[in-house]
Amino acid sequence: MGILDGKVALVTGAARGQGRAHAVTLAKEGAEVIAIDVDQPAAYVQYSHATAADLAGTAKAVEALDRRILTRIADVRSQEQIDAVVAEGLETFGQIDVVVANAGIYTQANFWEMDEEMWDDVQDVNLKGHWRTMKAVAPHMIERKRGSIVLTASWGHLPAL
Ligand SMILES: NC(=O)c1ccc[n+]([C@@H]2O[C@H](COP(=O)([O-])OP(=O)(O)OC[C@H]3O[C@@H](n4cnc5c(N)ncnc54)[C@H](O)[C@@H]3O)[C@@H](O)[C@H]2O)c1
Repeated sequence: MGILDGKVALVTGAARGQGRAHAVTLAKEGAEVIAIDVDQPAAYVQYSHATAADLAGTAKAVEALDRRILTRIADVRSQEQIDAVVAEGLETFGQIDVVVANAGIYTQANFWEMDEEMWDDVQDVNLKGHWRTMKAVAPHMIERKRGSIVLTASWGHLPAL
Protein backbone atom coordinates (compact mmCIF):
# COMPACT_ATOMS: atom_id res chain seq x y z
CA MET A 1 0.00 0.00 0.00
CA GLY A 2 1.31 3.43 -0.92
CA ILE A 3 0.15 6.83 0.24
CA LEU A 4 -0.84 7.67 -3.36
CA ASP A 5 -2.77 4.52 -4.27
CA GLY A 6 -5.56 5.48 -6.68
CA LYS A 7 -4.05 8.91 -7.37
CA VAL A 8 -2.76 10.37 -10.63
CA ALA A 9 0.26 12.67 -10.83
CA LEU A 10 1.41 14.94 -13.65
CA VAL A 11 5.14 15.73 -13.81
CA THR A 12 6.73 18.21 -16.22
CA GLY A 13 10.38 17.84 -17.23
CA ALA A 14 10.03 14.14 -16.39
CA ALA A 15 12.54 12.66 -18.84
CA ARG A 16 15.49 12.73 -16.49
CA GLY A 17 17.00 14.21 -13.35
CA GLN A 18 14.72 15.37 -10.58
CA GLY A 19 11.64 15.06 -12.83
CA ARG A 20 12.27 11.36 -13.42
CA ALA A 21 12.97 10.87 -9.71
CA HIS A 22 9.65 12.56 -8.87
CA ALA A 23 7.77 10.36 -11.38
CA VAL A 24 9.32 7.16 -10.02
CA THR A 25 8.80 8.15 -6.38
CA LEU A 26 5.16 9.02 -7.03
CA ALA A 27 4.70 5.66 -8.78
CA LYS A 28 6.38 3.84 -5.88
CA GLU A 29 3.72 5.38 -3.65
CA GLY A 30 1.02 4.05 -5.96
CA ALA A 31 0.27 6.92 -8.35
CA GLU A 32 -0.34 6.60 -12.08
CA VAL A 33 1.81 9.13 -13.92
CA ILE A 34 1.43 11.62 -16.75
CA ALA A 35 4.96 12.60 -17.82
CA ILE A 36 5.81 15.56 -20.03
CA ASP A 37 9.11 16.65 -21.52
CA VAL A 38 10.32 18.67 -24.44
CA ASP A 39 12.33 17.71 -27.50
CA GLN A 40 13.67 21.19 -28.21
CA PRO A 41 14.96 23.24 -25.28
CA ALA A 42 15.55 26.98 -25.40
CA ALA A 43 18.10 27.80 -28.09
CA TYR A 44 20.98 28.86 -25.85
CA VAL A 45 20.90 25.90 -23.42
CA GLN A 46 24.52 24.83 -23.52
CA TYR A 47 24.41 21.54 -21.65
CA SER A 48 23.18 18.23 -23.03
CA HIS A 49 19.41 18.11 -23.03
CA ALA A 50 16.85 15.38 -22.43
CA THR A 51 15.68 13.22 -25.32
CA ALA A 52 12.61 11.18 -26.21
CA ALA A 53 14.70 8.12 -25.25
CA ASP A 54 15.15 9.59 -21.76
CA LEU A 55 11.38 10.03 -21.46
CA ALA A 56 10.95 6.41 -22.56
CA GLY A 57 13.38 5.48 -19.77
CA THR A 58 11.12 7.18 -17.25
CA ALA A 59 8.17 5.22 -18.65
CA LYS A 60 10.10 1.97 -18.27
CA ALA A 61 11.00 2.75 -14.66
CA VAL A 62 7.38 3.56 -13.77
CA GLU A 63 6.01 0.51 -15.58
CA ALA A 64 8.51 -1.68 -13.72
CA LEU A 65 6.60 -0.65 -10.60
CA ASP A 66 3.34 -1.90 -12.15
CA ARG A 67 2.02 1.64 -12.49
CA ARG A 68 0.58 3.10 -15.68
CA ILE A 69 2.20 6.10 -17.33
CA LEU A 70 1.23 8.40 -20.20
CA THR A 71 4.26 10.10 -21.74
CA ARG A 72 4.00 12.98 -24.16
CA ILE A 73 6.46 15.35 -25.78
CA ALA A 74 5.07 18.75 -24.80
CA ASP A 75 6.63 22.12 -24.18
CA VAL A 76 5.69 24.16 -21.11
CA ARG A 77 6.22 27.24 -23.29
CA SER A 78 2.97 26.31 -25.06
CA GLN A 79 -0.38 26.49 -23.24
CA GLU A 80 -1.95 24.62 -26.13
CA GLN A 81 0.43 21.67 -25.75
CA ILE A 82 0.01 21.41 -21.98
CA ASP A 83 -3.77 21.72 -22.24
CA ALA A 84 -3.79 18.89 -24.79
CA VAL A 85 -1.78 16.57 -22.50
CA VAL A 86 -3.96 17.41 -19.51
CA ALA A 87 -7.09 16.66 -21.57
CA GLU A 88 -5.61 13.36 -22.74
CA GLY A 89 -4.48 12.52 -19.21
CA LEU A 90 -7.98 13.14 -17.87
CA GLU A 91 -9.45 11.01 -20.63
CA THR A 92 -7.00 8.21 -19.83
CA PHE A 93 -7.03 8.27 -16.02
CA GLY A 94 -10.17 10.26 -15.17
CA GLN A 95 -8.49 12.60 -12.70
CA ILE A 96 -5.30 14.47 -11.79
CA ASP A 97 -4.53 14.66 -8.07
CA VAL A 98 -0.95 15.88 -8.00
CA VAL A 99 0.99 18.24 -10.24
CA VAL A 100 4.75 18.59 -10.03
CA ALA A 101 5.86 21.55 -12.16
CA ASN A 102 9.53 20.70 -12.43
CA ALA A 103 10.56 21.58 -16.00
CA GLY A 104 13.36 24.09 -15.94
CA ILE A 105 16.49 25.36 -17.62
CA TYR A 106 19.42 27.37 -16.48
CA THR A 107 22.09 29.52 -17.96
CA GLN A 108 25.57 29.96 -16.65
CA ALA A 109 25.66 33.48 -18.05
CA ASN A 110 26.21 36.34 -15.64
CA PHE A 111 23.03 38.37 -15.34
CA TRP A 112 24.75 41.58 -16.48
CA GLU A 113 25.87 39.80 -19.65
CA MET A 114 22.47 38.29 -20.54
CA ASP A 115 20.48 39.85 -23.31
CA GLU A 116 16.71 40.27 -23.01
CA GLU A 117 15.99 37.30 -25.22
CA MET A 118 17.92 34.94 -22.93
CA TRP A 119 16.29 36.42 -19.81
CA ASP A 120 12.85 36.08 -21.37
CA ASP A 121 13.52 32.47 -22.39
CA VAL A 122 14.42 31.49 -18.82
CA GLN A 123 11.27 33.17 -17.48
CA ASP A 124 9.19 31.57 -20.22
CA VAL A 125 10.16 28.07 -19.05
CA ASN A 126 10.89 28.43 -15.33
CA LEU A 127 8.20 30.93 -14.38
CA LYS A 128 5.53 31.08 -17.07
CA GLY A 129 5.87 27.34 -17.70
CA HIS A 130 4.83 26.68 -14.10
CA TRP A 131 1.94 29.13 -14.42
CA ARG A 132 0.76 27.47 -17.65
CA THR A 133 0.96 24.03 -16.00
CA MET A 134 -1.09 25.18 -13.00
CA LYS A 135 -3.55 26.96 -15.29
CA ALA A 136 -4.13 23.75 -17.24
CA VAL A 137 -5.08 21.68 -14.17
CA ALA A 138 -6.63 24.27 -11.84
CA PRO A 139 -10.20 24.12 -13.22
CA HIS A 140 -10.23 20.32 -12.78
CA MET A 141 -8.86 20.53 -9.23
CA ILE A 142 -11.26 23.33 -8.27
CA GLU A 143 -14.19 21.33 -9.60
CA ARG A 144 -13.14 18.30 -7.55
CA LYS A 145 -12.24 20.48 -4.56
CA ARG A 146 -8.95 18.62 -4.21
CA GLY A 147 -5.45 18.47 -5.60
CA SER A 148 -1.85 19.26 -4.75
CA ILE A 149 0.53 21.43 -6.74
CA VAL A 150 4.28 21.33 -6.18
CA LEU A 151 6.51 23.92 -7.85
CA THR A 152 10.26 23.57 -8.20
CA ALA A 153 12.07 26.88 -8.30
CA SER A 154 15.60 27.74 -9.23
CA TRP A 155 17.92 30.08 -7.42
CA GLY A 156 20.27 32.10 -9.60
CA HIS A 157 23.92 32.02 -8.67
CA LEU A 158 26.13 34.97 -8.02
CA PRO A 159 29.74 34.49 -9.04
CA ALA A 160 32.52 35.32 -6.61
CA LEU A 161 33.75 38.77 -7.56
N1 LIG B 1 20.04 20.45 -10.20
C1 LIG B 1 20.13 21.54 -9.44
O1 LIG B 1 21.15 21.84 -8.79
C2 LIG B 1 18.93 22.47 -9.31
C3 LIG B 1 19.02 23.52 -8.41
C4 LIG B 1 17.93 24.38 -8.24
C5 LIG B 1 16.79 24.18 -8.98
N2 LIG B 1 16.73 23.17 -9.89
C6 LIG B 1 15.49 23.03 -10.65
O2 LIG B 1 15.00 21.69 -10.53
C7 LIG B 1 14.30 21.34 -11.72
C8 LIG B 1 14.89 20.05 -12.28
O3 LIG B 1 16.25 20.23 -12.55
P1 LIG B 1 17.26 19.06 -12.90
O4 LIG B 1 18.50 19.30 -12.16
O5 LIG B 1 16.58 17.73 -12.79
O6 LIG B 1 17.55 19.45 -14.45
P2 LIG B 1 17.43 18.62 -15.80
O7 LIG B 1 17.95 19.48 -16.89
O8 LIG B 1 18.05 17.27 -15.65
O9 LIG B 1 15.86 18.41 -15.93
C9 LIG B 1 14.99 19.42 -16.36
C10 LIG B 1 14.01 18.80 -17.32
O10 LIG B 1 13.12 19.82 -17.78
C11 LIG B 1 12.95 19.61 -19.18
N3 LIG B 1 12.55 20.86 -19.84
C12 LIG B 1 13.32 21.94 -20.12
N4 LIG B 1 12.63 22.85 -20.80
C13 LIG B 1 11.37 22.34 -20.94
C14 LIG B 1 10.19 22.82 -21.57
N5 LIG B 1 10.17 24.02 -22.19
N6 LIG B 1 9.08 22.04 -21.54
C15 LIG B 1 9.09 20.82 -20.93
N7 LIG B 1 10.19 20.31 -20.33
C16 LIG B 1 11.32 21.07 -20.33
C17 LIG B 1 14.31 19.15 -19.66
O11 LIG B 1 14.25 18.56 -20.95
C18 LIG B 1 14.72 18.20 -18.55
O12 LIG B 1 14.27 16.89 -18.78
C19 LIG B 1 14.42 22.52 -12.68
O13 LIG B 1 13.26 23.33 -12.56
C20 LIG B 1 15.64 23.26 -12.14
O14 LIG B 1 15.59 24.64 -12.48
C21 LIG B 1 17.77 22.31 -10.06
